[in-house]
Amino acid sequence: EKPGLELAVVSVPSYACQRHTPLLHHNITLTDALSILAENAELGENEGRGVAFRRAAALLKSLPQEVRGAEQLRGLPCLGEHSLRVIKEVLEDGVSLEVETTTHSEQFKAMKALTGIFGVGAKTADRWFREGIHTPSDLQRSGHTLNRAQRAGLQYYDELNLPVTKSEAVAIGQIVERAVHAVLPGAEITLIGGFRRGKQTGHDVDFLITHPDEGREEGLMPKVVSWLEAQGFLLYQKTTGNSYLESKEGPARPASNMDRFERCFSIFRLSTDNEGREIQTGREIQTGREIQTGDGPQTYSPTLTNTDPHTHSDSPHPLPQTLVVVGDHAQKVSWVLGHSQCSGPRSWRAVRVDLVVSPYSQFAFALLGWTGSKLFERELRRWAVHEKAMTLSSHALYDRKRTQYLRASSEEEIFAHLGLEYIPPCDRNA
Ligand code: CTP
Ligand code: MN
Ligand code: MN
Ligand code: MN
Repeated sequence: EKPGLELAVVSVPSYACQRHTPLLHHNITLTDALSILAENAELGENEGRGVAFRRAAALLKSLPQEVRGAEQLRGLPCLGEHSLRVIKEVLEDGVSLEVETTTHSEQFKAMKALTGIFGVGAKTADRWFREGIHTPSDLQRSGHTLNRAQRAGLQYYDELNLPVTKSEAVAIGQIVERAVHAVLPGAEITLIGGFRRGKQTGHDVDFLITHPDEGREEGLMPKVVSWLEAQGFLLYQKTTGNSYLESKEGPARPASNMDRFERCFSIFRLSTDNEGREIQTGREIQTGREIQTGDGPQTYSPTLTNTDPHTHSDSPHPLPQTLVVVGDHAQKVSWVLGHSQCSGPRSWRAVRVDLVVSPYSQFAFALLGWTGSKLFERELRRWAVHEKAMTLSSHALYDRKRTQYLRASSEEEIFAHLGLEYIPPCDRNA
């Protein structure tokens, strides 16, 4: 039977920040196809094209029902000619030739594999690709000089490409909280990024740290990092101090899209216990366990070759005799760990963690700016500039007509300043 025209008569606003975009939606097949093309454009450093595909995908994510025919799309915003063509193809044939060609292209596969290395961006990956380097192994063999981030990225490649689970995020949160409270009691820690939007997995875990007494948060990050390092929780970290003072522009106009908060991009060493749950201290490794593989429980005898960088002669780091890993995710972890440079199974995994410190007066802006999604953020800034003559950043909101900064102590107030209906984090999955 012919699908109805219900969607065509629904008026859908054109900015993603005007719409509710839940995590689970009705048009996954279409948005997956468009996301591939967006990703390909981004990897080819064609930002405009990438954004066009992302906007089209975000529109489909916000629709209240499944699109069954192209006629249902009449009158909807954000759907450019190219996106519409792809959508029609998928609706009619189940697949899009362009998407299939992209997915199977050597260049796309290589660019994805190489940018999947922490510390490697599209420019670097493209240069390597043109030298014939297509995989992390090719890169390892090439003898290229890598920076510290890239060396860590290569070393923990498999693990960093395993999704981080919600329970792992919670465990990391407990560690971060202990670290922060050890050096600054009263500081507040908030889970941001994808997990705040309700995602069950992520590529990393993001935290925002602040303190109600403005100024107390200054210089907090190096202290937190020292504490974490002393406890053996960090495999890699790069801390950047804040740069409010060096900047000649107002706080709403950072030189780039990058904000000027004190931040730390890191790789945590997260212990995993026998049920895939995480134990908090790097030292609490228990013995007498088994590894559960697809073929049932098996006991692995670890060799005593420990490549753990946190093993020091003065603090013996016992390897587990055996390790029980249960559940799908745990099996994947144990598979990866079993194939890593470690000759025995490990009881920890590497997890990417981002930490950001904001002054209390900027907290609401930082929270809004770091909750994402990236497209939702972009749309908020575009709305602010084009519809309200305001400049929004993760630091502030500036009204160019009234030539003044608009204060806010909550996200709700920022949406109100912008003349937008409040959209909760779980509906910012554009
Ligand atoms: N962000 C930022 N500046 C950066 C990196 C990230 O402002 N240098 C913001 C992004 O705009 C996003 C949030 O931080 O809103 C989280 O970014 P990221 O961790 O990359 O994405 P997530 O949405 O958390 O997705 P994932 O689950 O894959 O981590
Ligand atoms: Mn066709
Ligand atoms: Mn994230
Ligand atoms: Mn992040």
